[in-house]
Amino acid sequence: MSSAKFITFEGVDGAGKSTHLEWFANALRQRGINLLVTREPGGTPLGERLREILLNQPMHAETEALLMFAARREHVEQVIRPALKSGTWVISDRFSDASFAYQGGGRGVPLAKLEQLEQWVHADLQPDLTLLFDIPIEVARQRLSNNVSLDRFEQERGEFFERVRQAYLVRAAKTPQRFAVIRAENAIPEVHQELAKIVATF
Ligand code: TMP
Repeated sequence: MSSAKFITFEGVDGAGKSTHLEWFANALRQRGINLLVTREPGGTPLGERLREILLNQPMHAETEALLMFAARREHVEQVIRPALKSGTWVISDRFSDASFAYQGGGRGVPLAKLEQLEQWVHADLQPDLTLLFDIPIEVARQRLSNNVSLDRFEQERGEFFERVRQAYLVRAAKTPQRFAVIRAENAIPEVHQELAKIVATF
């Protein structure tokens, strides 16, 4: 049995999770932990091609859900499981909680359908820990407004992101032992302090 951990980072676009992920990964490395950083959609050659399509090509909400899970199927098999098996920790910038939040909450795909896909794709695998970067939508939107180009998701309206945010919080409330909810509108040093506390538990 390997004790390598699978940790995921989640939050609405503009929450700053990718920047914090880098800091968190470095802090773990400094503790001598061997880890791999990956992302969804993506993380494999096929997954990255699907990401291109998912972020740019308009499609039916259920097609979007299916493609997210198709990319995930590949990611779990080719990257996540082999790494964990060999003792390498995996930190993924998003995983299935994003599908529940964006396709479920944001687009209205029935949760029962997403649960079926989750069962199909990774019935026996869940993150050991999920850091949810929660932020008021108007703050996240303001941060995004500095970006030069916005993808198909980032172009969505405020109400879409409110639904995504709420769906994340509902999911966190269902399995609180797996989630750490981080107040992402706090100043960066405060967020780092919270992350450092988590790192210290490993
Ligand atoms: P990123 O910008 O954090 O890399 O994520 C790309 C976009 O993909 C982001 O807007 C959220 C979206 N997404 C979903 O809608 N469903 C999913 O399952 C995943 C993994 C991402």
